Amino acid sequence: MGFLFKSKKNNASSASQNLKTGKVISFLNQKGGVGKTTMCFNSAHALARQGARVLCIDMDPQANLSLLFNCELGDEEHSIFHLLVNSIRELKNIHTPTHVNEIIRTHPSGIDILPSSQELSGFELTVSGVSTSRPLILKNYLQKSGLIHQYDYIIIDCPPTLGLLVVNTLCATDGVMVPFRPDEFSKKGLGHLYSVLGDIEEMGVGEAPKVIAHIPNLMDNRRKQEQEELESISGELVEDLGEEHACVVDPFFNRAQLVRSGGQRKSVFDYQSKEFQGLQHQFNELASIIKESDYGHRG
Ligand SMILES: Nc1ncnc2c1ncn2[C@@H]1O[C@H](COP(=O)(O)OP(=O)(O)OP(=O)(O)O)[C@@H](O)[C@H]1O
Ligand SMILES: [Mg+2]
Repeated sequence: MGFLFKSKKNNASSASQNLKTGKVISFLNQKGGVGKTTMCFNSAHALARQGARVLCIDMDPQANLSLLFNCELGDEEHSIFHLLVNSIRELKNIHTPTHVNEIIRTHPSGIDILPSSQELSGFELTVSGVSTSRPLILKNYLQKSGLIHQYDYIIIDCPPTLGLLVVNTLCATDGVMVPFRPDEFSKKGLGHLYSVLGDIEEMGVGEAPKVIAHIPNLMDNRRKQEQEELESISGELVEDLGEEHACVVDPFFNRAQLVRSGGQRKSVFDYQSKEFQGLQHQFNELASIIKESDYGHRG
């Protein structure tokens, strides 16, 4: 978790030394509609069903993850946006004070959720003049609030951008999951994403998180071209990152069950029928990758 955390951990007198620190996992791709929210929601359910304590944070102003968790906020209700701006001393006076307990919701699955709101789209502007390190607002908040110690996994859904919200998410993240559609444009998109990860290190705000899985999604097995694109992308990832770091998981095909479950705001684990078993298995596999990944220096 970076230099600061390590130094704290090595300090024998630190009160937090015995506290468990959760892993922060984010689902990221600047491309829209590749399955970030769907993967995030179902992977969180898989982890929770395996006994993990899970917090989901919706960092997307579209609030699609909040919607899946049935956490649609009214106009007056506070969201993760308010927690973040209230955590900045210079902004405290101009925003209504708010406490995490007023915002966090517990879903019947046992997963806690910090919902998003439209106001989050004004985050970049709101924090533009503050002297605090702007990329580290979320990371600092998770530590100062103690949330990082209350969960085994904090799972974050990202918006389809590479702006300050995503930079904040990456700075707080231990492992990144990258859903993508294996089409002719995705190679360029993945290249762009990796250059932003490189930028994090160059900004001097910490080490870039590790990409723990690339998830081909919305595959159509009748289209031979997609299969070829996928092979070509996987080959390039192995070439660029090495076999050990490329980790391309088995593809998710275009499945009506995922549309149906999303529409009913349910996870694939809420269905008993046989047609959901394959998807349940795939999301359990993603949960295993999250649990078994080597987070290296961040561990
Ligand atoms: N494997 C799949 N099969 C069928 N439908 C899918 C699959 N994966 C995702 N979808 C559907 O595709 C749509 C987009 O998925 P999702 O919202 O998860 O993408 P996203 O990357 O989060 O989008 P955005 O960038 O807008 O946040 C949703 O309606 C979802 O139900
Ligand atoms: Mg989404």
